[in-house]
Amino acid sequence: MFCLAMKLLPHTTVPTYLVDSQHEANEALALEISSLLSARDGRATLGLATGSSPIGLYTELVRRHRAGEISLKEVQTFNLDEYMGLTHDHPASYRAFMSEHLFRGTDLDLEKTHFPPSDEVELEASCANWESSIQAAGGIDWQLLGVGRNGHIGFNEPDSPFDSRTRRIELAESTREANARFFESIDEVPRFAVTMGVGTILEARRLRVLAFGDTKAHILERVLHGEDDESIPLNALREHPDAALYIDAAAAARIA
Ligand code: F6R
Repeated sequence: MFCLAMKLLPHTTVPTYLVDSQHEANEALALEISSLLSARDGRATLGLATGSSPIGLYTELVRRHRAGEISLKEVQTFNLDEYMGLTHDHPASYRAFMSEHLFRGTDLDLEKTHFPPSDEVELEASCANWESSIQAAGGIDWQLLGVGRNGHIGFNEPDSPFDSRTRRIELAESTREANARFFESIDEVPRFAVTMGVGTILEARRLRVLAFGDTKAHILERVLHGEDDESIPLNALREHPDAALYIDAAAAARIA
Protein backbone atom coordinates (compact mmCIF):
# COMPACT_ATOMS: atom_id res chain seq x y z
CA MET A 1 0.00 0.00 0.00
CA PHE A 2 1.23 3.52 -0.84
CA CYS A 3 2.22 5.39 2.32
CA LEU A 4 1.70 9.16 2.44
CA ALA A 5 4.71 10.98 3.92
CA MET A 6 3.77 14.56 3.08
CA LYS A 7 4.68 17.28 5.50
CA LEU A 8 2.53 20.24 6.63
CA LEU A 9 4.74 23.31 6.28
CA PRO A 10 4.84 25.62 9.32
CA HIS A 11 3.82 29.30 9.21
CA THR A 12 2.18 29.51 5.80
CA THR A 13 -0.80 31.78 5.10
CA VAL A 14 -2.77 28.85 3.63
CA PRO A 15 -2.28 25.24 4.88
CA THR A 16 0.38 23.75 2.61
CA TYR A 17 1.64 20.19 2.27
CA LEU A 18 5.08 19.54 0.88
CA VAL A 19 4.90 16.26 -1.01
CA ASP A 20 7.75 13.89 -1.88
CA SER A 21 6.41 13.49 -5.39
CA GLN A 22 3.49 14.51 -7.57
CA HIS A 23 2.33 10.94 -7.21
CA GLU A 24 1.95 11.45 -3.47
CA ALA A 25 -0.22 14.55 -3.97
CA ASN A 26 -2.36 12.72 -6.52
CA GLU A 27 -2.84 9.79 -4.15
CA ALA A 28 -3.84 12.10 -1.30
CA LEU A 29 -6.43 13.93 -3.42
CA ALA A 30 -7.76 10.75 -5.05
CA LEU A 31 -8.25 9.38 -1.56
CA GLU A 32 -10.22 12.50 -0.55
CA ILE A 33 -12.44 12.18 -3.61
CA SER A 34 -12.98 8.46 -2.99
CA SER A 35 -13.97 9.16 0.64
CA LEU A 36 -16.32 11.94 -0.44
CA LEU A 37 -17.97 9.60 -2.94
CA SER A 38 -18.44 6.91 -0.29
CA ALA A 39 -19.90 9.41 2.17
CA ARG A 40 -22.32 10.79 -0.47
CA ASP A 41 -23.38 7.53 -2.04
CA GLY A 42 -21.56 8.63 -5.19
CA ARG A 43 -23.49 11.89 -5.54
CA ALA A 44 -20.82 14.54 -5.14
CA THR A 45 -20.30 17.75 -7.07
CA LEU A 46 -16.73 18.30 -8.17
CA GLY A 47 -15.11 21.47 -9.52
CA LEU A 48 -12.40 20.59 -12.01
CA ALA A 49 -9.33 22.24 -13.48
CA THR A 50 -7.30 21.71 -16.64
CA GLY A 51 -3.60 22.25 -17.43
CA SER A 52 -0.63 20.06 -16.52
CA SER A 53 -1.10 19.99 -12.74
CA PRO A 54 -4.25 17.79 -12.55
CA ILE A 55 -3.33 15.22 -15.21
CA GLY A 56 -1.78 12.75 -12.75
CA LEU A 57 -4.78 12.99 -10.43
CA TYR A 58 -7.16 12.31 -13.31
CA THR A 59 -5.02 9.32 -14.32
CA GLU A 60 -5.30 8.00 -10.77
CA LEU A 61 -9.10 8.47 -10.76
CA VAL A 62 -9.32 6.56 -14.05
CA ARG A 63 -7.18 3.80 -12.52
CA ARG A 64 -9.44 3.61 -9.46
CA HIS A 65 -12.51 3.46 -11.69
CA ARG A 66 -11.03 0.67 -13.85
CA ALA A 67 -10.08 -1.24 -10.70
CA GLY A 68 -13.74 -1.06 -9.62
CA GLU A 69 -12.90 1.13 -6.62
CA ILE A 70 -14.98 4.19 -7.57
CA SER A 71 -17.90 5.09 -9.79
CA LEU A 72 -18.45 8.64 -11.08
CA LYS A 73 -21.83 7.85 -12.63
CA GLU A 74 -23.79 10.10 -10.27
CA VAL A 75 -21.14 12.82 -9.99
CA GLN A 76 -21.75 16.30 -11.37
CA THR A 77 -18.72 18.23 -12.60
CA PHE A 78 -18.19 21.94 -13.21
CA ASN A 79 -15.03 23.06 -14.94
CA LEU A 80 -13.39 26.29 -13.89
CA ASP A 81 -12.93 27.86 -17.26
CA GLU A 82 -13.09 27.59 -21.04
CA TYR A 83 -11.48 29.51 -23.87
CA MET A 84 -13.66 31.69 -26.03
CA GLY A 85 -13.74 31.16 -29.75
CA LEU A 86 -12.78 27.48 -29.91
CA THR A 87 -15.20 24.86 -31.13
CA HIS A 88 -16.12 22.17 -28.58
CA ASP A 89 -14.12 19.59 -30.50
CA HIS A 90 -11.01 21.79 -30.87
CA PRO A 91 -8.17 19.68 -29.42
CA ALA A 92 -7.07 22.55 -27.15
CA SER A 93 -10.56 23.25 -25.78
CA TYR A 94 -10.97 22.38 -22.13
CA ARG A 95 -13.89 20.12 -22.96
CA ALA A 96 -11.58 18.09 -25.23
CA PHE A 97 -8.92 18.07 -22.49
CA MET A 98 -11.35 16.71 -19.91
CA SER A 99 -12.66 14.11 -22.31
CA GLU A 100 -9.13 12.88 -23.00
CA HIS A 101 -7.82 12.86 -19.43
CA LEU A 102 -10.86 11.95 -17.33
CA PHE A 103 -14.29 11.62 -18.89
CA ARG A 104 -13.44 8.95 -21.49
CA GLY A 105 -11.76 6.70 -18.94
CA THR A 106 -14.59 6.70 -16.40
CA ASP A 107 -18.35 6.21 -16.23
CA LEU A 108 -19.06 9.95 -15.84
CA ASP A 109 -22.39 10.85 -17.44
CA LEU A 110 -21.56 13.59 -19.98
CA GLU A 111 -24.96 15.17 -19.28
CA LYS A 112 -23.69 15.87 -15.78
CA THR A 113 -20.47 17.56 -16.94
CA HIS A 114 -20.62 21.34 -17.23
CA PHE A 115 -18.39 23.98 -18.79
CA PRO A 116 -18.72 27.75 -18.55
CA PRO A 117 -20.41 29.29 -21.60
CA SER A 118 -17.84 30.27 -24.22
CA ASP A 119 -20.07 31.85 -26.81
CA GLU A 120 -20.15 35.65 -27.07
CA VAL A 121 -23.93 35.67 -27.69
CA GLU A 122 -25.88 36.69 -24.56
CA LEU A 123 -22.83 35.90 -22.50
CA GLU A 124 -23.90 37.76 -19.39
CA ALA A 125 -27.17 35.84 -19.17
CA SER A 126 -25.39 32.55 -19.87
CA CYS A 127 -22.88 33.25 -17.09
CA ALA A 128 -25.75 33.95 -14.68
CA ASN A 129 -27.38 30.65 -15.74
CA TRP A 130 -24.12 28.86 -15.19
CA GLU A 131 -23.90 30.21 -11.64
CA SER A 132 -27.51 29.09 -11.09
CA SER A 133 -26.71 25.59 -12.32
CA ILE A 134 -23.93 25.33 -9.71
CA GLN A 135 -26.44 26.36 -7.05
CA ALA A 136 -29.02 23.90 -8.41
CA ALA A 137 -26.45 21.11 -8.05
CA GLY A 138 -26.17 22.01 -4.37
CA GLY A 139 -22.90 23.95 -4.74
CA ILE A 140 -19.45 22.52 -5.29
CA ASP A 141 -18.31 20.03 -2.63
CA TRP A 142 -14.72 19.76 -3.71
CA GLN A 143 -12.88 22.13 -6.02
CA LEU A 144 -9.55 21.38 -7.66
CA LEU A 145 -7.31 24.30 -8.62
CA GLY A 146 -3.96 24.84 -10.29
CA VAL A 147 -2.15 28.12 -10.00
CA GLY A 148 -0.75 30.32 -12.74
CA ARG A 149 2.80 31.57 -12.38
CA ASN A 150 1.21 35.03 -11.93
CA GLY A 151 -1.05 33.71 -9.14
CA HIS A 152 -4.21 33.28 -11.18
CA ILE A 153 -6.82 30.71 -10.13
CA GLY A 154 -9.18 29.55 -12.83
CA PHE A 155 -8.52 32.31 -15.34
CA ASN A 156 -8.91 35.03 -12.74
CA GLU A 157 -5.88 37.06 -13.66
CA PRO A 158 -4.17 39.45 -11.21
CA ASP A 159 -6.44 42.23 -9.92
CA SER A 160 -9.59 40.11 -10.23
CA PRO A 161 -11.83 41.13 -7.32
CA PHE A 162 -12.20 38.50 -4.62
CA ASP A 163 -15.99 38.76 -4.98
CA SER A 164 -15.97 38.37 -8.78
CA ARG A 165 -18.42 36.00 -10.45
CA THR A 166 -18.29 33.96 -13.65
CA ARG A 167 -17.42 36.29 -16.51
CA ARG A 168 -15.39 36.93 -19.64
CA ILE A 169 -11.75 37.79 -19.00
CA GLU A 170 -8.81 38.87 -21.09
CA LEU A 171 -5.92 36.46 -20.63
CA ALA A 172 -2.59 37.84 -19.42
CA GLU A 173 0.24 37.54 -21.94
CA SER A 174 2.16 35.32 -19.49
CA THR A 175 -0.86 32.97 -19.38
CA ARG A 176 -1.06 32.85 -23.19
CA GLU A 177 2.68 32.14 -23.32
CA ALA A 178 2.44 29.39 -20.68
CA ASN A 179 -0.49 27.75 -22.52
CA ALA A 180 0.97 28.06 -26.01
CA ARG A 181 2.33 24.52 -25.60
CA PHE A 182 -1.21 23.19 -26.15
CA PHE A 183 -1.49 25.01 -29.53
CA GLU A 184 0.47 25.04 -32.79
CA SER A 185 1.72 28.55 -32.03
CA ILE A 186 1.09 31.39 -29.57
CA ASP A 187 -0.94 33.22 -32.22
CA GLU A 188 -3.57 30.50 -31.93
CA VAL A 189 -4.01 30.91 -28.16
CA PRO A 190 -7.32 32.71 -27.60
CA ARG A 191 -7.14 36.17 -26.03
CA PHE A 192 -10.33 35.71 -24.03
CA ALA A 193 -11.83 33.05 -21.81
CA VAL A 194 -14.77 32.65 -19.45
CA THR A 195 -13.86 31.80 -15.90
CA MET A 196 -15.65 31.10 -12.65
CA GLY A 197 -15.07 34.18 -10.50
CA VAL A 198 -12.90 34.22 -7.40
CA GLY A 199 -16.09 34.67 -5.37
CA THR A 200 -17.66 31.67 -7.13
CA ILE A 201 -14.59 29.56 -6.34
CA LEU A 202 -14.57 30.62 -2.68
CA GLU A 203 -18.11 29.23 -2.29
CA ALA A 204 -16.90 25.66 -2.86
CA ARG A 205 -16.84 23.72 0.40
CA ARG A 206 -13.28 22.45 -0.06
CA LEU A 207 -10.48 23.91 -2.16
CA ARG A 208 -7.43 21.87 -3.13
CA VAL A 209 -4.55 23.36 -5.08
CA LEU A 210 -1.81 21.48 -6.93
CA ALA A 211 1.40 23.36 -7.72
CA PHE A 212 4.44 21.58 -9.10
CA GLY A 213 7.73 22.74 -10.56
CA ASP A 214 10.06 25.69 -10.28
CA THR A 215 7.90 28.03 -12.37
CA LYS A 216 5.53 28.23 -9.36
CA ALA A 217 8.20 28.90 -6.71
CA HIS A 218 8.17 32.69 -6.94
CA ILE A 219 4.39 33.17 -6.67
CA LEU A 220 4.16 30.61 -3.85
CA GLU A 221 6.76 32.53 -1.87
CA ARG A 222 4.73 35.74 -2.33
CA VAL A 223 1.45 34.10 -1.31
CA LEU A 224 2.51 31.71 1.43
CA HIS A 225 5.03 33.95 3.16
CA GLY A 226 4.11 37.40 1.90
CA GLU A 227 1.77 40.28 2.69
CA ASP A 228 -1.91 39.89 1.95
CA ASP A 229 -1.80 41.41 -1.53
CA GLU A 230 -5.32 41.51 -3.00
CA SER A 231 -4.00 41.80 -6.53
CA ILE A 232 -2.97 38.10 -6.40
CA PRO A 233 -6.05 35.88 -6.79
CA LEU A 234 -4.46 32.91 -4.99
CA ASN A 235 -4.38 35.06 -1.84
CA ALA A 236 -8.18 34.78 -1.72
CA LEU A 237 -7.69 31.28 -0.31
CA ARG A 238 -6.55 32.86 2.96
CA GLU A 239 -10.25 33.62 3.49
CA HIS A 240 -11.41 30.03 3.00
CA PRO A 241 -11.96 27.70 5.98
CA ASP A 242 -10.99 24.50 4.14
CA ALA A 243 -8.31 25.26 1.55
CA ALA A 244 -4.99 23.45 1.17
CA LEU A 245 -2.09 23.44 -1.24
CA TYR A 246 -0.04 20.41 -2.28
CA ILE A 247 3.35 21.45 -3.60
CA ASP A 248 6.51 19.61 -4.60
CA ALA A 249 10.09 20.47 -3.64
CA ALA A 250 10.73 22.52 -6.78
CA ALA A 251 7.64 24.66 -6.17
CA ALA A 252 8.62 25.01 -2.49
CA ALA A 253 12.23 25.97 -3.28
CA ARG A 254 11.88 29.54 -1.97
CA ILE A 255 9.97 28.73 1.20
CA ALA A 256 10.79 25.28 2.58
C1 F6R B 1 -7.05 25.68 -15.83
C2 F6R B 1 -6.89 26.73 -14.84
C3 F6R B 1 -5.59 27.41 -14.63
C4 F6R B 1 -4.44 26.43 -14.41
C5 F6R B 1 -3.14 27.19 -14.19
C6 F6R B 1 -1.96 26.25 -13.97
O1 F6R B 1 -8.38 25.19 -15.83
O2 F6R B 1 -7.85 27.03 -14.21
O3 F6R B 1 -5.70 28.26 -13.50
O4 F6R B 1 -4.72 25.63 -13.30
O5 F6R B 1 -2.88 28.00 -15.28
O6 F6R B 1 -1.74 25.53 -15.14
P1 F6R B 1 -0.72 24.29 -15.16
O7 F6R B 1 -1.31 23.24 -14.31
O8 F6R B 1 -0.67 23.88 -16.60
O9 F6R B 1 0.57 24.80 -14.63
